[in-house]
Amino acid sequence: MSLLSKFYETSPYEGFDPSDYPSDLQGWGSDDPIFRDLIAAIRPKVIVEVGTWKGASAIHMAGITKELGLDTTIICVDTWLGSPEHFLAQQPGWRESLLLQNGFPRLYYTFLSNVIRAGFTDRIIPLANTSDNAAVILGSVGIKADLVYIDAAHEEEPAYRDFQNYWRLLSDDGVLLGDDYISWDGVTKAANRFAVDVQCPIVGKWSKFVISRNPAVRPSIAFGA
Ligand SMILES: C[S@@+](CC[C@H](N)C(=O)[O-])C[C@H]1O[C@@H](n2cnc3c(N)ncnc32)[C@H](O)[C@@H]1O
Repeated sequence: MSLLSKFYETSPYEGFDPSDYPSDLQGWGSDDPIFRDLIAAIRPKVIVEVGTWKGASAIHMAGITKELGLDTTIICVDTWLGSPEHFLAQQPGWRESLLLQNGFPRLYYTFLSNVIRAGFTDRIIPLANTSDNAAVILGSVGIKADLVYIDAAHEEEPAYRDFQNYWRLLSDDGVLLGDDYISWDGVTKAANRFAVDVQCPIVGKWSKFVISRNPAVRPSIAFGA
């Protein structure tokens, strides 16, 4: 995987023993049909996912790219610290998933173990940082994404900033897919505002929205309408 050398001297998976971390692919909307529709239409070389958690959506996308015979790299951006709602235990199991040890999460190791077990260490590159910092890093090493999937902050301002930062990292005909549309008020407001700002149509359904720079991959196609 040639992109790995832009970030690391050795693979982050090297020497890591997954046996302490049982398989746990819990996620949210991680296998929505929109992933297959978009990946089949775009045939991306590079996907950037912002907000990865345990890796369920990244592994799902990696499986689709493999099935379609694509040589795709998926760069996963996450602090692996969880979002406020996880730390605040807003649903059963969320805080437990962080695997806090001495007050610091070990969620990253659940992710690494899941990727190793799924056999996608050659397709998935973790980038453990804030979405703001990671956008700077990705820009500095010259990454352009054909597909960006944003599933990180749920508050309006950080979500809006993610849309701005990662839109700049899209290739000229790239597509932005976002999670939490309609289901989270802050994300919905940010996505609608952003679409107006960039003067591109937004098409959404419960929990997913698409803003496409590519007229050939219009959201109506992506949503099967
Ligand atoms: C809803 S989860 C992602 C779920 C994943 N896409 C899936 O389908 O399984 C949101 C993730 O975003 C991460 N996150 C939230 N805010 C972030 C930020 N500002 N920078 C980086 N990661 C962030 C959290 O750590 C969490 O793992």
